Amino acid sequence: MAIKELDWANIGFSYIKTDKRFVSNFKNGAWDGGAIVDDANIVMSEDAGVLHYAQECFEGLKAYRTEDGRVVTFRPDLNAQRMVDSAARLEMPQFPVDKFVQAVEDVVKANADWVPPYGSGATLYIRPVMFATGNVIGVKPADEYQFRIFVTPVGPYFKGGVKPIVVKISDYDRAAPHGTGNIKAGLNYAMSLHAIVQAHEEGFAENVYLDAATRTYIEETGGANIIFVDADGNLVVPKSHSDSILPSITRRSIVDVAQKYLGLKVDERYVKLEEVHNFKEMGLCGTAAVISPVGKINDHGKEICFESGMDDMGPVLKKLYDTLTGIQMGRLDPPEGWIHEIKL
Ligand code: PLP
Ligand code: COI
Repeated sequence: MAIKELDWANIGFSYIKTDKRFVSNFKNGAWDGGAIVDDANIVMSEDAGVLHYAQECFEGLKAYRTEDGRVVTFRPDLNAQRMVDSAARLEMPQFPVDKFVQAVEDVVKANADWVPPYGSGATLYIRPVMFATGNVIGVKPADEYQFRIFVTPVGPYFKGGVKPIVVKISDYDRAAPHGTGNIKAGLNYAMSLHAIVQAHEEGFAENVYLDAATRTYIEETGGANIIFVDADGNLVVPKSHSDSILPSITRRSIVDVAQKYLGLKVDERYVKLEEVHNFKEMGLCGTAAVISPVGKINDHGKEICFESGMDDMGPVLKKLYDTLTGIQMGRLDPPEGWIHEIKL
C-alpha cells in the first residue's frame, strides 16, 4: 500500500477513476447489505425512474490526510442526514445515517492509496449518490433504487485555488420558492448548466442567484453558499424567505468557527443585493469551494468591488479559512464529533 503518484498540485476538480466503490440496492421495500465492488459502470432499465423523472439526490464530502498520517472525514453524519432529507422530499427510500457513515468509511478505506498526501493541496472527494432504478412510466416514485459511493481525488474547485474570483448576478433562477433548492438533488444542477456555461463564456467563475420571487435578495451560487464580512468585521450569512438555499455543512461549520474560535459576531439574515456594496469581503463556501474569495460581483455591467480586492483573500475570510482547514486537516483541535477518523 502506497499513496498513488499523481501530480497532486495540478489535478483540478474532475473525475479520476479510483479502485473501489460501495453499492447497495433497494428492492422489495428494503436495502440489501451493500458491498464494496470494482465495477464503476451501472446497467439499468431504459425505463428507470432516474432517466425520466430525475429521481436522484447526491452528497459531497471529503477525506483528508493529516500531518500525522491519519485519514479523516469531516462531519459525514451531516451529509448522511441531508441525504435522508433529500430522499424524503423526492419520495425515495432513506439510507440510514449510521449505514451511510459506515459506507463512507469502507469506501475510503478501500481507496486509501488515493487519499492525497498532506500538504499537497489535493483531497479525496467522496460522492454518495442515490437514484431510481425501478421502472416507471406514469409519473410516480419508483420502487427500486441504488445507493452508491465513489471517491475521486480533487484539487481546487475554482482555477487559481484561493485567488479571488469574479461572479455575476444571474438572470436565471436556481430554485423556486418552497421548491427543491434546500435539498441536494441533481435536478437543481441540471437547470443551472445553461447559466454556468454562459457565465463561463462571459468570463465569470460562478452565478449568484437572487430569490426567485422578488429578485432582490441574495440566495446562493450554483455550487456554494455565500458569506460576507461587514464593515465591523462580523460575518453576515444570507437567509432565504422561501427556504431555497441548500443548508451547506461548510457554512454551518464556518458559523460555529467564527463564533467559537474567532469570537466574531454572526448575523444570519436576509441580505438585499442593493446593500452588498457595504460589505468588505465576500466568499463562496462549500465542500468543493472550501472558502473561495470573491473580488467583485458583476451586476449587469455594474461592478460591485470588495475592499479585499482581486489579489488576495481578505483578512477575516483568511482567518476563517485557516481555522476551518486547520480543523479539517488535523492541525487544530476540532469541536466534538466533527472529525471522523478512518482507521486504516
Ligand atoms: N450550495 C450548493 C448549491 C451546493 O452544491 C453546495 C455543495 O455541496 C453547497 C451549497 C455547499 O454545501 P456543503 O458545504 O455541504 O458542501
Ligand atoms: C460540493 O461542494 O460537494 C458540491 O456538490 C458542489 C458541486 C458544485 C461540486
